[in-house]
Amino acid sequence: MDSPLVAIVTGANRGIGLAICAALVRQSPGPLVLYAASRSGSPIDLAGLSIPPTVQIRPVKLSLTDKASITALSTMVGNEHRSCDILINNAGLYYFQEKVTAAQLQETLDVNFRGTLNVCQAFLPIMRKGGRIVNVSSQSGQLKYFHPRLQARFLSPDLSFAELDTLIGEYSQTSTMRPRRAGPPLAYFTSKAALNAATRILARDNPDLLINCCCPGWVGTPLGAQAGQPPKSVEEGARIPLRLAVGDIGQISGRYWANDSVASTGHGEVCDW
Ligand SMILES: NC(=O)c1ccc[n+]([C@@H]2O[C@H](COP(=O)([O-])OP(=O)(O)OC[C@H]3O[C@@H](n4cnc5c(N)ncnc54)[C@H](OP(=O)(O)O)[C@@H]3O)[C@@H](O)[C@H]2O)c1
Repeated sequence: MDSPLVAIVTGANRGIGLAICAALVRQSPGPLVLYAASRSGSPIDLAGLSIPPTVQIRPVKLSLTDKASITALSTMVGNEHRSCDILINNAGLYYFQEKVTAAQLQETLDVNFRGTLNVCQAFLPIMRKGGRIVNVSSQSGQLKYFHPRLQARFLSPDLSFAELDTLIGEYSQTSTMRPRRAGPPLAYFTSKAALNAATRILARDNPDLLINCCCPGWVGTPLGAQAGQPPKSVEEGARIPLRLAVGDIGQISGRYWANDSVASTGHGEVCDW
C-alpha cells in the first residue's frame, strides 16, 4: 500500500477547522491519516460524511499554550510516519471587545502567534520535502492598519524571529507602536500580523517546503459572529486553507492569500498584506 498522506489540522473540533477536516476527507481518495487536533482531544463530529476505509481520522490533544503537548504530537507523528505532508494551523482566538486585559493580550499573542509558531517549529524537522504548512491568519493582520514605521519592520527581508519577538514586545508595552486605526481588536491584529511575518521567515528559511498564510474570509463561527453577521459558511471559509494545503499553488511560498473581499467565496489569490 502507498504510504498515506499525513495531515494535521489544529482547532479541528469546530468552526473552520472542522470544515477543513471534512473537506480533506471528502476530496481525498486516501490513503490519508488525518490528525484532528483539539484541546480536548475528543473525536471530531463528521456525522453525515461517509469515511472511506482508506481514510483514518485520529483525534489528538493539542493546546497551543502547552509546549509539551506540541512536542508530544510532533514526536508521535514522526515516530509513526517518519514525516508529515500537511500541517494546517487553524486554531486561534479573538477577544473582540473594547479593551483587552494584559492577560488577554498575552493569551492572544501566545495562541495566535507564538503557539502557532511553536507548532511550525516542532514539525519542521519531520516535514516531507515539498510538504505544506498553512497558517490561518486574518485580514486583520494587514499592515495597512499599522504605522508605516512598523510596516517596514514587519516586511524587512532579513527579519529574524528574535527581531519579530522584540517588535511584538514593543507593541505590547508602548502606545506609540499601536496600529494607526486604534480600536478594540489591537491584540488580534498584532497577533495575525506577527503570524504573517513569521510565515515569511519560515518560508525564507525552509525553501524545500511550501509555507503560506491566508485569510479565510468572514465566516459564520462563534469567532466570526462577534463582529456581526458573517457572510460566509464554514465550508466556504475552508476553501483557501484547503487550496494552500492540497490544491494548485504552483511553487508559491511565504505569501498571504485571500479573496478580494472577506465576503468572497473564491479559492484565494496571492495578496499583499
Ligand atoms: N471566523 C472568521 O470570520 C475568521 C476570520 C478571519 C480569520 N479567522 C481565523 O480562522 C481560524 C479559525 O477560526 P474559527 O472562526 O473557526 O474560530 P472558532 O470557531 O472559535 O474555533 C477556534 C478553534 O481554535 C481552537 N483554539 C483556541 N485556542 C486554542 C488553544 N489555546 N489551543 C488549541 N486550540 C485552540 C478552539 O478550540 P476550543 O474549541 O477548545 O476552544 C477551536 O477549535 C482562527 O485562526 C481565526 O483567527 C476566522
